[in-house]
Amino acid sequence: LDNGLGLTPPMGWLTWERFRCNMDCDRDPDNCISEHLIKAMADIMAANGYRDAGYEYVIIDDCWLGPERDTNGRLVPDPNRFPSGIKNLSAYVHSKNLKFGIYQDFGTKTCGGFPGSEFYMQTDAETFADWGVDYLKFDGCNSNLYDFPSGYEAMGFFLNKTGRSIFYSCEWPFYKIVSGLQVDFAKVRKTCNLWRNYYDVQDSWSSVLDIVNFWGSNSKIFTKYAGPGGWNDPDMIILGNFGLSYEEERVQMAMWAILAAPLIMSNDLRHIRSSSKALLLNRNLIAINQDKLGIQGILLQKQNGIQIWSRDLSFNRTAVAFLNENSDGMPRFLSFSLVDLKLTSSTYNFTEAFDMKTNILVTRQRPLKIKVNPHGINLYIAKEMHL
Ligand code: GLA
Repeated sequence: LDNGLGLTPPMGWLTWERFRCNMDCDRDPDNCISEHLIKAMADIMAANGYRDAGYEYVIIDDCWLGPERDTNGRLVPDPNRFPSGIKNLSAYVHSKNLKFGIYQDFGTKTCGGFPGSEFYMQTDAETFADWGVDYLKFDGCNSNLYDFPSGYEAMGFFLNKTGRSIFYSCEWPFYKIVSGLQVDFAKVRKTCNLWRNYYDVQDSWSSVLDIVNFWGSNSKIFTKYAGPGGWNDPDMIILGNFGLSYEEERVQMAMWAILAAPLIMSNDLRHIRSSSKALLLNRNLIAINQDKLGIQGILLQKQNGIQIWSRDLSFNRTAVAFLNENSDGMPRFLSFSLVDLKLTSSTYNFTEAFDMKTNILVTRQRPLKIKVNPHGINLYIAKEMHL
């Protein structure tokens, strides 16, 4: 979407994967979807380095609404969990030099059963602008899939008409693809800054790998539509939660960098392992993710559970990732020629990309020899050398 936003993939934090539709503030006051939770995360993002690393949006997903609209048809947040109102909450987030995002649904109800935007799109767009919303995640539950192209376009029109810059995230392709329907990605890209293509990420390695595999086998369908202004969305970053090992967390960060994917975390930043935090704040990975050219990486080959991915970067560099899906417990020793890696010059310097400290010279005669841990990933930046 050509609205000046999303020139690189968005970065931020979102409630859904970690906090879901937790409305039980009596039993779980610190983790229920509430202004308290949003403020707590905004505080930490500002204080603990996340904002300075680029994570700028703080976004509430589903379950912030009360059961009914008001008598003017305007949306009303749950009064117990958002007693100060959304406008004050967004002002709080802005006071931390962060941006504020919210969730709504294109259909009659949100996926969680709260009032949807159908028949109220203009009113809702105006409400969001009035509340100081900077980012809208627009879901597609409880609607007619055939209405998506015109409906999502209409909401985009009303958002634009408010005059406020609002990043527009759509779930339109996801519902169509999983129903076996075709998606006009050119139109999606024209309408949205970000779009989900596949199932929700869950807190597990199998979920992350399933998403990576879907991206690998469908590269031809949607990869080329990613670029400044619009991105394919493999869903949230789940580092720091319960489901991933350290190696698996490295895989998600590195793959989301290769995929030019949004870095929208869903985790509890108040309680996070230092190793997860270090990965989330790794400037080298973020720089690859945010590379200005915005070219989404592709799967070059997959053999014996080893996936090779490649992403073209600015300054004639290429990010190359080796992902080991195998669960057999033993690191694999692997060797690849430049031809395997689709690198056409005669000599390259491979810099290990997590730390940017180790360099390996690879030539036509001298293959890249590496060791990749199970459920692990090695990531390099290859740069042509003129000797
Ligand atoms: C759908 C979306 C999720 C989340 C939930 C909220 O499942 O794909 O990302 O927004 O709805 O109910």
